[in-house]
Amino acid sequence: MAEIRFYGGEEIPLELHKVRIVQKLDLVPVERRAEAMAEAGFNTFLLKNKDIYLDMLTDSGVNAMSDRQLAAMMVADDSYAGSATFTRLTEKLTELFGTEYFLPAHQGRAAENIIAMTFVKKGSIIPMNYHFTTTKAHITRLGGYVEELVADEGVKIESDCPFKGNFDLEKLEKLLKEKHDRIPLMRIEAGTNLIGGQPLSLENIEKACDIAHSYGVLTVLDASLLQDNLYFIKTREKAAQNLSLREITRRISSKMDIIYFSGRKLGFARGGGISIHDKALYLKMRELVPMFEGFLTYGGMSVREMEAMTVGLEESMDIDVISQGPLFIKYMTDELIKRGVPVVTPPGGLGCHLDATRFIPHVRQEEYPAGSLAAAVYIAGGIRGMERGTISEQREEDGSEHLAAVELLRLALPRRVFTLSQVKYAVDRISWLYDNRNLIGGLKFIEEPSSLRFFFGRLEPVSPWPEALVKAFRKEFGESL
Ligand code: F0G
Repeated sequence: MAEIRFYGGEEIPLELHKVRIVQKLDLVPVERRAEAMAEAGFNTFLLKNKDIYLDMLTDSGVNAMSDRQLAAMMVADDSYAGSATFTRLTEKLTELFGTEYFLPAHQGRAAENIIAMTFVKKGSIIPMNYHFTTTKAHITRLGGYVEELVADEGVKIESDCPFKGNFDLEKLEKLLKEKHDRIPLMRIEAGTNLIGGQPLSLENIEKACDIAHSYGVLTVLDASLLQDNLYFIKTREKAAQNLSLREITRRISSKMDIIYFSGRKLGFARGGGISIHDKALYLKMRELVPMFEGFLTYGGMSVREMEAMTVGLEESMDIDVISQGPLFIKYMTDELIKRGVPVVTPPGGLGCHLDATRFIPHVRQEEYPAGSLAAAVYIAGGIRGMERGTISEQREEDGSEHLAAVELLRLALPRRVFTLSQVKYAVDRISWLYDNRNLIGGLKFIEEPSSLRFFFGRLEPVSPWPEALVKAFRKEFGESL
């Protein structure tokens, strides 16, 4: 992706790739969209793909692959043990991270499970800049606690802070000083997902790791969104401007004891794993891989995906490749700002994030503004986003609602998947919705699972607002889809 100056003065990101395989999409009428939303219990996870026009649920496992990734899949070595594919993947990780050992896992949360089972005990405290849903679920399942130490700026929706994922280093120092005997590890989440794909600076990462190590606490990087974070370090951090992406990667990885990732994000494939410098740490976790994932040289992954991941990891060191996501997200965010739509700023990685709290201030947090906005955006445009607010939280132990710090609707931009005209369509439908925001109402649970409720919980509207929205859409757009 290139930031080219246009003669006409327009500022748009220009693709440095071409499309060679496409998937046909349908855009079903607004009446069907409202019906599909009801069938899905007003939970966008439960929608069927045939009813979706732009699937902005996630970037996980749905980034476009390159021709070289597809070609590599053809030469995968399908052996149960000792596969050459595994050797190639391990060697690539060693080259990029400097880590000697690699434990494969079927995806990111499986790596989290292995790390949590090895290090988390009842009463353990795990400090991190910010939690991720699956990470927290693994820690709390084992009786541990998550302590979020993101700097205050991180949860401010509108900000000009370039590194909103940064730790508050004073809070970190204080916590470690007081409670280090209960802290087996500190987790650093690159490209902090739940606060809008916001990066940490190289300086903050290095300082946080030094503090952790001074108290004998292990440092663990969740590198799932590392490629976006690398792009932001390279383009926003003065001290890193003369470093190559490889050098930045090495600077980060040399501070980590353990690096794990979802290969559905990092490496643009599917799978995951844990890279480790130290043999003793590797041996501590090793036996859990054949027990829960698969033999040590595939860990539940398909060898084809491992080959694609190896190439994808290499391609993540190319600024033209990793800039596509952030630049499209910036374009979408800036266009929404021009139309007055409240969004998370500065634009981060992963996707564009709408601020449901300001979009529909009349919907109380107990009636799930981010979930309501997700349903409304789908009805308005066949666009599927992901609720990142109170529905994505777990209830407290006493059953009371844990109100999220922020109510966001994430509209992910899987890398190299959508065209700019599709992004323009999304901006158009969202701005229409914003002008009709008073029609949107809240939701309530009708089926609420006790864990990870956002995946399979079912809700219903508190009033017949979806019908009102459909009516307004027809009035505005006539016969148009
Ligand atoms: N860590 C982070 C930062 C993630 O974003 C994810 C997944 C995981 C761990 C878990 O990895 O899905 O391979 O098991 N994020 C996806 C998303 C689900 O849509 O943001 P996984």
